[in-house]
Amino acid sequence: MKAMEIFEKFFKSDAPLLIAHRGFSAVAPENTLSAFKYAIRSKADMIEVDVRLTKDGTPVIIHDAKVDRTTNGSGKVRNFYVWTLKELDAGSWFDLKYKGEKIPTLEETLKFINGRLPINIEIKTSPRRNEITEKVLAVIFENGYEEKTLISSFDPRILRRLRKLTDKIPTALLYHYPIYFNPIKTLKNLNAVALIHNFKFTTQNLVRKIHDAGLKIFVYTVNKPEDIKKMINLGVDGIITDDLRLARRILKSLH
Ligand code: G3P
Ligand code: MG
Repeated sequence: MKAMEIFEKFFKSDAPLLIAHRGFSAVAPENTLSAFKYAIRSKADMIEVDVRLTKDGTPVIIHDAKVDRTTNGSGKVRNFYVWTLKELDAGSWFDLKYKGEKIPTLEETLKFINGRLPINIEIKTSPRRNEITEKVLAVIFENGYEEKTLISSFDPRILRRLRKLTDKIPTALLYHYPIYFNPIKTLKNLNAVALIHNFKFTTQNLVRKIHDAGLKIFVYTVNKPEDIKKMINLGVDGIITDDLRLARRILKSLH
């Protein structure tokens, strides 16, 4: 199956997918197995995670380039070996009841989710971008996740590299600012299936353009009720949110 066909299978109805940003990060420490557990329990349609590479080249799930904000350690992820990174506490900063929570590797994450729902793996910009792309792909294929993954990145070079390696995994370009380029041309050049856009700059016109081209648009990170409503009404295909329960309640009230 090709990327777009695989991607289409994630959509079970006309409603937008509700995507748990870094897991259900409103109730548990972001990018941890607990956050993924609550995302699954709350019936997320998809989980979004951020991937970085350790010094020894292991893909791990953490948002920031440094461990300081979300662990009891300090320093850059890329300067840690995975076994040292594993000694850090990634839960206490959020709530003491999560003390002892670890930074998961991508492999542990896929094994934990175990096919229960699709995953959106965001590959963070990295000086080792070819290596991170190859390593992430290897973990996906080794764990049989190739039909349940969407890869996204702010760095188009990562998406291009990935497309050279496989035509099976759907990819999406992340973009933070108002669009000043031709999004259709850019997505087609990258052979990507979707744009994942900052909701603040997402307009009806952009949604229409993307749809007319047979592509999809997700928005991030939408947490306020009025913004969630607005995005549903614009007809976006996916809403990335910290608060799944809130988004689900609003979606139900509108559909
Ligand atoms: O994928 C959407 C969102 O995760 C992108 O921004 O900084 O939260 O990774 P960030
Ligand atoms: Mg992200």
